Amino acid sequence: MDNETLEKFFANGILVDAAIEGVELNNVDNMINTLKAKGIFILNTSVMHDVFSNKIVDDSRRIDIIKNYDGRTSPSKPADWTVYFNSRFNRLRDMLVAKENGGLMSLSQVKGMPSGTSVKFIAMISKISISPIKKFMVLDIEDNTTSYRALSSTVKDGVLDDQVVIIKGKKSKDAVFIDDIILPDVQVKENLETDIPDSYAVFLSDVHVGSKLFAKEPLERFIKWINSETDEYANIAKSVDFLFIVGDMIDGIGVYPDQEKELEINDLKKQYEELYNILDKIPKNIKIIISQGNHDATHIAEPQPRLDPSFAGPLYKLDNAIFLSNPYQINLVVNDHKTNVLGYHGFSIPYYANTISKYNKMNPEDIEAIMRIHLKSRHLAPTHGSTQVIPLQEDFLIIGETPDIYVTGHIHKVLLGKYKETILINASCWQYQTSYQKKYGLEPEVAKVPVVNLKTKEGLILDFLGEKVQVYKKAIKV
Ligand SMILES: [Fe+2]
Ligand SMILES: [Fe+2]
Repeated sequence: MDNETLEKFFANGILVDAAIEGVELNNVDNMINTLKAKGIFILNTSVMHDVFSNKIVDDSRRIDIIKNYDGRTSPSKPADWTVYFNSRFNRLRDMLVAKENGGLMSLSQVKGMPSGTSVKFIAMISKISISPIKKFMVLDIEDNTTSYRALSSTVKDGVLDDQVVIIKGKKSKDAVFIDDIILPDVQVKENLETDIPDSYAVFLSDVHVGSKLFAKEPLERFIKWINSETDEYANIAKSVDFLFIVGDMIDGIGVYPDQEKELEINDLKKQYEELYNILDKIPKNIKIIISQGNHDATHIAEPQPRLDPSFAGPLYKLDNAIFLSNPYQINLVVNDHKTNVLGYHGFSIPYYANTISKYNKMNPEDIEAIMRIHLKSRHLAPTHGSTQVIPLQEDFLIIGETPDIYVTGHIHKVLLGKYKETILINASCWQYQTSYQKKYGLEPEVAKVPVVNLKTKEGLILDFLGEKVQVYKKAIKV
């Protein structure tokens, strides 16, 4: 497909999956009309198959997009914040209503109740404070009818500003005394038996190509391994179907003070070109899922749209790559078996490490705890300000479907953990310690690759730092 055709789809609001980009199409105008008539705005292999009865590629391994921000929505306008917060409240409220067996009141109904009545309602926590005398936890709360206060004699763990929660308690004169706070939380998914062949997903992040501290040798070792040119764990290498890169593909330019002193390649386009040279060596049967980080060529505010082809042009030559926003949600499909993956670079994570003192070392266990907070809050940045956001009509950072795998990067650590039935991954990095990290005492865990077998949902971490590929000793087996 030439650029002109690609642009035509884009101009009509249709996103073309990378797997289709290499395909020659006839009657493009007819195709666009059909897709628009059907309300379909993504052209991928399954759409080609279902809509045009044209099985163009082997789709026994494919990626179905559930959530992807394509950047067409108008940029931030101050007036949009009310719409944005209402959408956040309404969406999370619906999730909470589905959890509870009725009996929920509005906050204005609660206010009108006589003292001593048991009450149960949904509210957004607008502010948390500790009362100076009795050391009560005081929550300023609101819903779309009014605002009020709720008190707890003990400090409730995991309760944060701007979360939407169910509060159960007793009405008193000027407030509600809290018995219990219920978060939206993810569901426990039933683990369905599957008879698919072994199929591995491997997770990379924070490659930081262009940095003088880029771990080139270990990455070359990884490329050899994934080409089955290494004896160790060759059975896994041969069964890899999906490879993720969860942002910070390049080091970028001007991201932190004095960065230029640590740059090997001082040009964004050339950094992406170098990354292309590396990714081009990955076997073409492996699907590469690429999304954005704060070092990539885009704005910081989230959601970040897919990589801009005008900067990252060469990468778009990769027929086996798909380019997604940050965050995104997809299904990895092997035969008919689906694995739901939520990908997020993780820019909000340091906020929680800085504000919840027990997580301030940002060790893998701390990252795991913060990722659990995201899942329990059903939001990737539950406290407003923990990351920069674009106030869209719908809050894009809400966690809709419960994922089977939730993967982040950004922290340059490695984690393979579990919460309920969801596998939690922080996907390491390919950059040795920078002067910036040294200043803040951050020790990266370099060149570790979490791998997960989609058939069994078991995983381990492979270490490419030393000469021999080995299992990383700190691996948490899931
Ligand atoms: Fe990074
Ligand atoms: Fe990052």
